[in-house]
Amino acid sequence: MNKVLSLIGLSKHFGSVIANDDVSIDLHAGEVLALLGENGAGKTTLMNMLFGLYMPDSGRIEVADRDGVMQPQPLGHPQAALEAGIGMVHQHFTLAENLTALENILLGSENLLSWRYARGAARAKIEGIMQRSGLVAPLDEPVGQLSVGERQRVEILKALYRDARILVLDEPTAVLTPQEADTLFENIGAMTKEGLSVIFISHKLREVLAFSNRIAVLRHGKLVGEMATEDADQRSIARMMVGADTPVTKREGMAAGAPILTLKSVSVHGKSARESLRSADLTVHAHEIVGIAGVSGNGQSALAALLSGLATPDSGEMVINGTEVRRASPSAMIAHGVGRIPEDRHHDGVVGAMNVAENLVIERLDTPEVQSRGFLRRDAIRANATRLSKDYDIRGPGIEARARLLSGGNLQKLILARVFEYAPDLILANQPIRGLDMGAAAEVARRLLEARKRGAGVVLISEDLDEILSLSDRIIVIHDGHLVEVESHDREEIGLIMAGEVA
Ligand SMILES: Nc1ncnc2c1ncn2[C@@H]1O[C@H](COP(=O)(O)OP(=O)(O)OP(=O)(O)O)[C@@H](O)[C@H]1O
Ligand SMILES: [Mg+2]
Repeated sequence: MNKVLSLIGLSKHFGSVIANDDVSIDLHAGEVLALLGENGAGKTTLMNMLFGLYMPDSGRIEVADRDGVMQPQPLGHPQAALEAGIGMVHQHFTLAENLTALENILLGSENLLSWRYARGAARAKIEGIMQRSGLVAPLDEPVGQLSVGERQRVEILKALYRDARILVLDEPTAVLTPQEADTLFENIGAMTKEGLSVIFISHKLREVLAFSNRIAVLRHGKLVGEMATEDADQRSIARMMVGADTPVTKREGMAAGAPILTLKSVSVHGKSARESLRSADLTVHAHEIVGIAGVSGNGQSALAALLSGLATPDSGEMVINGTEVRRASPSAMIAHGVGRIPEDRHHDGVVGAMNVAENLVIERLDTPEVQSRGFLRRDAIRANATRLSKDYDIRGPGIEARARLLSGGNLQKLILARVFEYAPDLILANQPIRGLDMGAAAEVARRLLEARKRGAGVVLISEDLDEILSLSDRIIVIHDGHLVEVESHDREEIGLIMAGEVA
C-alpha cells in the first residue's frame, strides 16, 4: 500500500499540559486507522495539528501529492491542509444552522457571489458523491432541521466535496444509534475502495474491531502502541490504553425503597410530535436505577426537559419526594433534590467561558458556601475545585482555565462532580457515558451505583443497550412518546420493542 500521510515526531503542549509528545504515525491509501486513547490522551489535539488548526511545538507532517510523492505540509495552515486533501469532521459540529445543507457544503470553497452559477455544477458533483458513498442528506433543507445523523453526513459530504483524500472523523458515532453507526462505516468502506484514507477516533471498541484495519493508541500524549486490527482484541487494546486492566463494575442486588419520583399520565409537548411525552406513567424508587432504553428522538428530550425543570407537564401529575411539582424551573428542581447530567455537555452542562472552579458551583451560587453578603467566596470556590478535581480525576489545564478547554471526557467528570457532590435524591443521567473512555465510563457506572446504594433513585436515559442492561434494576422502553416497562432483560426482545415492532 502507498503511504499518503506521515506524522513525524509531533509535540504540542498547552501551558503545563503535554498534549502530544513526539508522536509519529503513517497512513496508507485506502486504510482505515482507528486512533484510540483515554479522555485527554491527546487524540483531538493531534488531529487538529494535522488539519492545521494548531501549530506543533516540534515535528513535521508529510502528505503525498497527487502523484504519490511525499511533500512537506505547511504547519498551522488549515487552507493548506484542505488543499492537500485533508478533511476533518470535528467532535462537535460546525455547520451554520440557518443555511441549507447544500449551502453549508459549498460554504468556504465557492465564491459567495458566483453561487448561483456554481450551484448547478456543485449539486451534480454532490449527488455523484452521495450515490457512490451512500451518504445521503436532504440538500435543500436548513441544517437546523436535520437530525444529528443527517448533519454528520453533511459534514462528511462537505469534506468529500473538497476532494478530501484523507478524512479525519473525531468520534463520529458518539451521537449515532448503533444502526446509523454501522451504515456510516459501510459507506466509509465504499469510499476507501476508491482510495480514500480514514482516521477515526472512537471509544467504542466493538466498532473499532469491526471496521478499522489498523489501531494506534495514545496515552498521556505518547504513542504507546500500533497494531493490525486482526491481531487485536478488546482486552489487549484496553490494557494498552490505560496501562492496566480496566475495573469491572459489579452491581449488587438491592431492595427498592420508597417512591422518589412519580409521573401520572404526564404529557409534555416537545419539539415535534415524535419528541413529545404522551400520557406517561413512571415510578422511580430509592435504591433503584431505572433504564430508559430507546432510539433517540422518541420522547427522551421531553422526559429530560421535564425532569430538569425546562418543561412543565401539559397534563398529568409529577410528584417528587411526596410533593407535587407544579411550576417547574431548573432551580426549583435542584431545590427538590434533583441532580442532572445533561445530554449536551457543551450547551447545557457548562458555561464554556467560565473557569472550571466557577462551573463547579454554578448551580449553587446563592448558597452560603459560595457566597457571603453578595460576594463570591473565591478562596472557598478554589478550594472546592481543587478537592473535586482530585476526587473526580478532572485532568486538564487547571481549575482557573476556561471550561471549554477541557477534553470531552474531562468535561463530563466536571459535571459528575457537581451532581454527585450534593447527594441528590433523584438523578437524571442522560447519555452519561457517551464519548467516555472505558476507565471514565466505569467511573460513571461506579458513581451511579454508589448513589443508588446511598438511596438515590436514578433515571438513566441511554441508546446504548449494553449500558442499560448492565446498570438498570428495571428497564423501560420509550417509543413514540410512550413508556413501556419490559420484564425481560433480553437484548433482542428489547430491541424489537425499541423499534416499535411489539407493544
Ligand atoms: N486549546 C487548549 N488549551 C489548553 N489545553 C488544551 C487545549 N486543547 C486541549 N487541551 C488539553 O490537552 C489534553 C489533550 O486534549 P485532547 O482534546 O487532545 O484529548 P482527547 O484525547 O481528544 O480526549 P477526549 O477523548 O476526551 O476527546 C487535555 O488535557 C486537554 O485539557
Ligand atoms: Mg477529543
